[in-house]
Amino acid sequence: MVDCQRHKFKIPDSVSYLNCAYMSPFLKKIEKVGHRAVSKKCLPFEITGDDFFENTSKLKVLFSKLVSIPDYNNVAIIPATSYGIATVTNNIVLNKGEEIIVVDEQFPSNIYSWQNVVNKHQGKLINIAKPKALKNRGKLWNKSILEAINSNTRVVAIPIVHWSDGTLFDIEAIRKKTKENNALLIIDGTQSIGALPFSVSEIQPDALICSGYKWLLGPYSIGLAYFSDELCKGNPIEENWINRKNSHNFANLVNYESDYQPKAGKFNVGEMSNFTLTPMLLESIKQLLDWKPERIQEYTKYISEKAIRKLKRLGCFIENEKYRAAHLFGIYLPEKTDLNALKKELSKQKVYVSFRGNAVRVSPHLYNTKMDFEKLVKCFITVLKK
Ligand SMILES: Cc1ncc(COP(=O)(O)O)c(C=O)c1O
Repeated sequence: MVDCQRHKFKIPDSVSYLNCAYMSPFLKKIEKVGHRAVSKKCLPFEITGDDFFENTSKLKVLFSKLVSIPDYNNVAIIPATSYGIATVTNNIVLNKGEEIIVVDEQFPSNIYSWQNVVNKHQGKLINIAKPKALKNRGKLWNKSILEAINSNTRVVAIPIVHWSDGTLFDIEAIRKKTKENNALLIIDGTQSIGALPFSVSEIQPDALICSGYKWLLGPYSIGLAYFSDELCKGNPIEENWINRKNSHNFANLVNYESDYQPKAGKFNVGEMSNFTLTPMLLESIKQLLDWKPERIQEYTKYISEKAIRKLKRLGCFIENEKYRAAHLFGIYLPEKTDLNALKKELSKQKVYVSFRGNAVRVSPHLYNTKMDFEKLVKCFITVLKK
C-alpha cells in the first residue's frame, strides 16, 4: 500500500483536512511549478509559438492515460464542468416527450443546461429520487435509476459518486441499459476521477467531464473532458482561433480556416493554452499516475475504517461499502444532534469537513492519517455523548 504523502503538502500538523471534495491542496511541487509559470510571463519573449500547443497536448495525453482513453484527440481543455456539460447539451436535440435522467440533488453544473434542453424541446427531466430510508439506500437508488431507463430515455447525465455523500452509482450497469435503449451516458467525473479508478475504454461513456481542482489536485478554472467520436461531430459553444486547423501557423491566421482541429480539438475553451494553469495540472496528473487511483481508494479505506465502525456504534449512518466511495462519504447524524455544537467542536479541533444536505461529508486523501479520523470521531463523541 502507498504510504502517507503528507510531507508532499503544506498542511500544518495541527490541521485535519478531510475536505478534498471541496478543494484539494496543492502539492508543494505544484506551487513551485505555478510560481515559475507566473514568472514566465515577465519575459513574454520566452513564450514561444510551441508553448501554445505542447503542454496542452501533453496534458491530454496524461489525462488519457489516467482514464484509459485510446486517442487523446478525444480530450478537450475546459474551464469548468458547466462548460463541458454545455458543450454536450449544445448538440442535443430531443423529440417532444423524450427524457433526460438525472439523480436527486445532483450538482447544479450538471443540471441547469439539461433544464434548458428539456424546456427548449418539450422534453422531460426525470429526477431519480433517493430512497427516504437510509438502510440499503445506495442499492435501492441504483435500482430506481436502472428501472427508469427505457426507450424514451435520450440521455442519462449523472456523476460516478454523489457529491454530497459519496453514493456510488453502478456506471457499468447504467451503461449497459443506456446502450440497450440507445441513450447517451454523460458522466460528471469531478468528484471521482483521480481518486477512483475509471476506464473510458471499458465503460465507453459518451462524455466524461472533470473540473481539475478537486481530485485531479490541480488549480481552479481548468479541467478536462472526453467526448466520444460521435459527439465530436457536433458544434462547439464558441469559436476561437486556436481550435481551427493550422492555427500553429500564426502568420496565416487571417486566412480564415473553415476546418477544425481533429475530434474534440474544436471543443477546447478559448485561450486553452493557459500558461499558468496548464503546467500545474500537468504535474499533478503526473503525480496521480504515479500514485494510482486504486491505491488512493485502498489508502483512504485503510485510514477510515476503524473510525467508521466507531461512528456507526455512535448511531450515525454511513452507507454500505459497496455503495459508496472510500475517498468521499457522508455521515448521517442521529436525530436531534446539535449540529451547531458539532460544527463548533470540529472548528475548535481544526477538523475540516463539509456539511452537505443532512450529511457531514468527509473526503480524505493521501495527506491524511488515522489520527485525523481519531480527531474526527472525538468531536462526534464530545457532541453526541453530551
Ligand atoms: C459533482 C461536481 N461537479 C462539478 C463541480 C464543479 O463544477 P464547475 O466546474 O462547473 O464549477 C462540483 C463542485 O463542487 C461538483 O461537486
